[in-house]
Amino acid sequence: MSLLLEAKNYRDNFRKELANLNITKNSVEELRIKYLGKKGILNRLFQGFGSLQPEERKEFGQIVNSFKNDLNVQFEVLQNKLSEQEVSKDFFDYSLPGKKPETGYMHPISQTMREISKIFREMGFDIEYGPEVETDYYNFQALNFPDNHPARDMQDTFFINNDILLRTHTSPIQVRTMQSQKPPIRILAPGRVFRNEAISARSHCIFHQIEGLYIDENVTFSELKTTLDIFAKRYFGSKVKLRFRPSYFPFTEPSAEVDITCFICNGKGCNVCKKTGWLEILGCGMVDPNVLEASGIDSEKYSGYAFGMGPDRITMLKYGITDIRMFFEGDIRFLQQFK
Ligand code: DAH
Repeated sequence: MSLLLEAKNYRDNFRKELANLNITKNSVEELRIKYLGKKGILNRLFQGFGSLQPEERKEFGQIVNSFKNDLNVQFEVLQNKLSEQEVSKDFFDYSLPGKKPETGYMHPISQTMREISKIFREMGFDIEYGPEVETDYYNFQALNFPDNHPARDMQDTFFINNDILLRTHTSPIQVRTMQSQKPPIRILAPGRVFRNEAISARSHCIFHQIEGLYIDENVTFSELKTTLDIFAKRYFGSKVKLRFRPSYFPFTEPSAEVDITCFICNGKGCNVCKKTGWLEILGCGMVDPNVLEASGIDSEKYSGYAFGMGPDRITMLKYGITDIRMFFEGDIRFLQQFK
């Protein structure tokens, strides 16, 4: 093959190789050495110039020179493409929003307790806490439970020994507060309580209560009714009506249980309220003088009311939760629904 034809073939081949090139640092360098290296094609063509016939030299010179220019231009283009690749590999857009780390959620019962606490705080109640491991004295005796009261039975109470137990209600916080503060006392005491009960969809051995207590001169039952009415309307909705049913608790006299009109069916009767139109939400009453005296408060001078409610049941009603055990299983799929 004549050198002239060879030069034309190389020129066409280079174009083909370029079209099929997978552009990487290595492949571009390999191609550059092949064509522009010391022992590369271009140099070999130039070296052959002397062996050409004089009449061939002009055309050969034109072909090889334009091939050389083309090679230089094309390798510059390839270099640019390589540096672009390099930049895009390291490119980081600092204006992108950050990744948010997963955060925890407040437990639905904690949410309910906070919402309820907020309403009472706005009515002037302070928040108080008490120990979950209590003495028989605070849990029963000071609250006027007679010695043989069934709540003291092993069936209901987790006793640690004869004297120490897991509190069965938040009412002992009433006594602790009355011992440590002087009237007027206006407190709300949320907390966890424990009862030795079989665990089922409807009852658990761990649950929660919110205790309320107001002690001052001349506190009346109608103040209790008004306070609970205001609370219920703010928490459950302004249309809610209250019903007080006479009841019995050792630490209050008189005592009542309070129902609200069912907020699911508005009192018409549904499955949740068992067709009655009413939902029981709390127990309450006027603090028994025995309880005041046991805590060193003059029952001739002072009177007061107390109430206790169950935020577990209230949360279940609010969200239509049918199994109380869900609250204590820590299942993320359940808890995430209360974000
Ligand atoms: N401690 C009661 C219980 O566990 C609830 C309760 C009822 C609390 C009436 C009160 C009250 O303060 O006045 O069932």
